[in-house]
Amino acid sequence: MSSTNFIEDRPLQDNLGRRFPYLRLSVTDVCNFRCTYCLPDGYQKTHDDVFLTVPEIRRLVTAFAEMGTWKIRLTGGEPTVRKDFLDIARTVAGIDGIRKLAFTTNGYKLLQRAQDYYDAGLRAINISIDSLDPRRFHEITGHDRLGEVMDGVQAALDTGFEAVKINTVLLKGLNDGELDGFLSFVEDRPISLRFIELMQTGDNLTYFRKHHIPATVVKEKLKERGWEVQERDIGAGPAIEYVHPDFQGRIGIIAPYSKDFCTTCNRLRISARGGLHLCLFGAGGYDLRPLMQSDEQKEELKNKILDLMKFKKSSHSLHDGDSGVRQNLASVGG
Ligand code: GTP
Ligand code: 5AD
Ligand code: SF4
Repeated sequence: MSSTNFIEDRPLQDNLGRRFPYLRLSVTDVCNFRCTYCLPDGYQKTHDDVFLTVPEIRRLVTAFAEMGTWKIRLTGGEPTVRKDFLDIARTVAGIDGIRKLAFTTNGYKLLQRAQDYYDAGLRAINISIDSLDPRRFHEITGHDRLGEVMDGVQAALDTGFEAVKINTVLLKGLNDGELDGFLSFVEDRPISLRFIELMQTGDNLTYFRKHHIPATVVKEKLKERGWEVQERDIGAGPAIEYVHPDFQGRIGIIAPYSKDFCTTCNRLRISARGGLHLCLFGAGGYDLRPLMQSDEQKEELKNKILDLMKFKKSSHSLHDGDSGVRQNLASVGG
């Protein structure tokens, strides 16, 4: 069977008929920030820091692309701490079938590097900013770098990225009084700012109890202020997006605890060591790395991935307080 027929006949699909155009590829667990809900003590080096190499990534993404995946998001930890990050981006951007290359970053050195990222083929960027107050930003991330990150956001816009998004984790007692400041931020900027409901992980239970706010609180405030829900695009991430005639930007809500959050799931994840994760939460990954060692293994790799699709569950179990084995989201890129 030619590989073209293979794509048409057997696209990636699970038992519920969900398709997977979107792959989140973590390239490292390492992060240089210490967000209080994620890595409060910073990244702790482990015995096995050997992350996927560029040739392994090329083989893996080629296999996915041949089964219908067209959007790749590079994640971490902080993906840009990898010295060969631009090489990874160039390689992935050059693979047949990849139409959109995105990454999620904490914005470190973005001002200096935005043009290099763009030149390497990256076209969409999501940047974490949990507070617009410099002191609070410092308190949350462990870095006094709000000004730098904001300059980086502007640089990304000036460079011509097709999509610039901000991620803001909703944190009771920390940033829940900043809604209007965040709204003003998108008034004259073509940015989508997404409020993410804090997710419970193995490491953050006490923090979660103290700071979790349901996203419904923000939804109600948006409605009161005249914001309206926008239709979702194919290949879109998990955010429900809101628009307002007086604002150039958009507001998104990512509410993993909401009913039916998982029914629109269109994405799979690969950890930085090559594990396939069928859900952000749930049991450990299926090790695909042994099948990324030579170009000749491509069909075997594709068959293995297809085979694993039947284990994808309909939903995570966060509602029952079960965060799977995930200690923090840095370990699989969120
Ligand atoms: P877009 O493609 O730009 O919409 O990106 P995205 O929102 O998928 O990516 P990003 O890396 O910016 O993630 C934003 C937040 O959404 C993070 O907190 C992720 O952990 C969360 N997220 C993304 N996909 C899933 C998912 O499948 N399940 C859950 N529970 N959270 C997710
Ligand atoms: N809950 C919600 N969002 C989280 N992120 C990291 N950990 C959590 C969590 N426990 C967010 C980061 C980043 C994105 C990739 O995931 O702030 O924006
Ligand atoms: Fe690093 Fe992102 Fe975790 Fe913050 S949320 S510590 S930036 S991986």
